[in-house]
Amino acid sequence: MTDQVLIFDTTLRDGEQSPGATMTHAEKLEIAELLDEMGVDIIEAGFPIASEGDFKAVSEISARAKDATICGLARANYKDIDRCWDAVKQAKSPRIHTFIGTSELHRAIPNLTMDEMAERIHDTVTHARNLCDNVQWSPMDATRTEWDYLCRVVEIAIKAGATTINIPDTVGYTAPVESADLIRRLINTVPGADAIIFATHCHNDLGMATANSLAAVAGGARQIECTINGLGERAGNTALEEVVMALKVRNDIMPFTTRIDTTKIMNISRRVAAVSGFAVQFNKAIVGKNAFAHESGIHQDGMLKNKETFEIMRPSDVGLAGTSLPLGKHSGRAALRAKLSELGFDMADNQLKDVFVRFKELADRKKEVYDDDLIALVYQNSGDEDHVRLKSLRVVCGTEGPQTADLTLEVDGAEVTTSATGDGPVDAAFNAVKALVSHEARLQLYQVSAVTEGTDAQATVSVRMEEDGRIATGQSADTDTVVASVKAYINALNRLIVRRAQNTVGYDTKGVSYKDV
Ligand code: KIV
Ligand code: ZN
Repeated sequence: MTDQVLIFDTTLRDGEQSPGATMTHAEKLEIAELLDEMGVDIIEAGFPIASEGDFKAVSEISARAKDATICGLARANYKDIDRCWDAVKQAKSPRIHTFIGTSELHRAIPNLTMDEMAERIHDTVTHARNLCDNVQWSPMDATRTEWDYLCRVVEIAIKAGATTINIPDTVGYTAPVESADLIRRLINTVPGADAIIFATHCHNDLGMATANSLAAVAGGARQIECTINGLGERAGNTALEEVVMALKVRNDIMPFTTRIDTTKIMNISRRVAAVSGFAVQFNKAIVGKNAFAHESGIHQDGMLKNKETFEIMRPSDVGLAGTSLPLGKHSGRAALRAKLSELGFDMADNQLKDVFVRFKELADRKKEVYDDDLIALVYQNSGDEDHVRLKSLRVVCGTEGPQTADLTLEVDGAEVTTSATGDGPVDAAFNAVKALVSHEARLQLYQVSAVTEGTDAQATVSVRMEEDGRIATGQSADTDTVVASVKAYINALNRLIVRRAQNTVGYDTKGVSYKDV
C-alpha cells in the first residue's frame, strides 16, 4: 500500500455549505487557484445542480485548474450526475462524486428499502462511470450504517466502477479507534476493496475530526477530506492544516506523505477567513494568531535559549514570516514591496500602487504598521465594483447622548446624506446606512477584534446579515472601530445586493435537498 495520502479539499463545497460562508464567484476562483498552487490533489469545487452559480463556479474552476483533479458533488440520480459531469468535464482531470445516505435514519428520507437503495446505488454509480473514469462514491452517515449493509453497498459501488470509496462520519459521531477499525475491516472484508482508494470524511461535532481522519489513515485510508480552517457545517470538517502538519511533524509514527506545500498554509487560511467571514479562533491549532505566540515568562526564556523548548514546528513551516521591524510613515514603496513579498504577496505594479496609497493613509494615523496591519490592508476590498461606498462619517458619542451619526454614501454613483440616532455609535451609524439603502436584512453577527496591540491598533469587524434566506458576510479594518463597522456593514450589503440580483440564496434553500435523490 502506498504511503502517499491524497488531500481532498472540500472548502468550496462542504465548507461553503456552512450558513453564512457563501463566497462570491471571484472568491471561489481565487481559493481554488490557491488550493491548486499549494498541492491539493482533489478540489471539490461545488454542487453543480444546486444553482447556476455553483455550476458556473465548478465549470470555470475545472477549466482553469493546473494540477488538481476537479470534483463536483451529485446526489444519487441521473440529473444530478449529468449536471455534475457537464461542469467538471473540461478539467484535465475530472471526478464525479455521488452519494446517498445509507444509515437507517437516512434511508427513511427518500423512503427506499435496503434493496431499492442498493439498486439505486448500482444504477447511479454505473451511470457516473459511463461518463467519467474517476468516480467517487459516498455512503452518507456511513459510521452509523449497519455493518452488513455498509459492506453490501460498498461492494456494489466498487463493482459498478467507483474508483474511490469515501466513508463519511457525517454527524461527527465516531471515535479514533472505531474510525481506524471501520476502514481496516472494510478493506479486509469487501471483495475488490484492495483495488480502490478509501477516503475518510470527518465532521468535528465532538472535536475528534483530525484524530479520526489520522486514525482512518492508520486503518488504510489514503485520501483525507478536509477544509481550510476546518470550515464546514455545524462544528466544521477536518482542518486541512491540522492533518497535513500532523503527518509532517509526527512522520516518525505516521510515515505518510502529502503533496502539500505547507509554507502556503497561512496565506490561504487568512484568505478563507476573509472571504467566508469566519474568523479563525486565536488558539486554533496551526493557523490561530496565538499558535506560535509565547507569552509567559518561562516560555519566553526557554524560547530565547532554544526554540525547540516550546516549538515543535517552525513558524516558517506554515508560511509565517519571522517577526521583523514594523514599517512607518517614512517607509517607501520599495520597503513596502519587500515586506509584502516576505509575507507572500507578490504584487503587480498597479496593485502595489493601490496598496501603497492605503498604507500611507494608515501610517499617517498609526505610528507603526505591523505585518498583520499590512495583511488586513491587502485584503481590504478595493470597492471598485461596489454599488454602495462610504464617503464620510461623523459620529457623536459619549455619556451625554444622543448618539448621532452623520453619514454620506455614494449609492450607484449618486451622493446621499442623512443623520440618525441609535443606542451607541455603531447602532446610530448602522441606522443611518439603513435609512439611505433600504433593506430588510437582519444583523446575525457583529464581531470586533484588534489586528495588533495598542490603542491605535486597527479593528477588524465582521458582520453577517440575512435577508429572505440570503446570507451575506462583510469584513473591514480601520483604526476607527465605528468606521470599520460601517465599512464591514456596507461590504455585506454590497454582497447582498449582488445576491439579490442573481436571485441566489444560501445553500440550504437553493431549492435542492438531500431528499431529492
Ligand atoms: O458529510 C457528509 O456525509 C458529506 C457527504 C456529501 C460526503 O459531506
Ligand atoms: Zn460532510
